[in-house]
Amino acid sequence: MTEPLFESTQFRRVCGQFPTGVTAVTAMTADGRLAALTVNSFTSVSLDPAKVLFCLANSSSSFQTLTEAKRIAIHILNQDQEDVARRFATSGLTGAERLDGVRWIPGPDGIPLLPGTPAILAGHRDEIITSGDHAIILVSVDHVHLKPTDTPALSFYQGRFTTPVVTTTE
Ligand SMILES: Cc1cc2nc3c(=O)[nH]c(=O)nc-3n(C[C@H](O)[C@H](O)[C@H](O)COP(=O)(O)O)c2cc1C
Repeated sequence: MTEPLFESTQFRRVCGQFPTGVTAVTAMTADGRLAALTVNSFTSVSLDPAKVLFCLANSSSSFQTLTEAKRIAIHILNQDQEDVARRFATSGLTGAERLDGVRWIPGPDGIPLLPGTPAILAGHRDEIITSGDHAIILVSVDHVHLKPTDTPALSFYQGRFTTPVVTTTE
């Protein structure tokens, strides 16, 4: 493989020019281990059947739990949930410790659900595709939850949490 003609920091900076939403991914394994992770690599993949994906760093402390879990929930966070995003991105905390700091309820198969989140997708973990230093995790969605809200979604842009500007047309 040829060496790239740029530094890794430059690659990150360029990718950071793409504004994304912010999600909180949760899961529980059959033996009760919990995962809770902030993720902005989320995207929808297929409408029928409904599938979404996110990319997970091989080095993530959540890697084993998330790749073993049968079910995964993805919460699309609101601007007023920045504290959740920061907590779920904190190194040195286990999934259980991250969840200890927020309000959550057990969903089907014990999967942690964050009430108050305007949009939630949950389903079975599907394929895992290994690529570079990340794994692409596909989720077959079987449950969706939508609570209309006027609060804008939380965004991530140029390495910072931000809020999208919402304009309305008359
Ligand atoms: C806005 C934001 C988005 C993130 N997106 C991802 C992601 O898509 N995939 C990933 O593996 N880690 C992502 N992370 C990093 C994890 O949330 C977490 O901070 C990182 O895995 C360090 O935790 P650990 O030391 O417990 O592994 C993101 C962090 C932030 C703040």
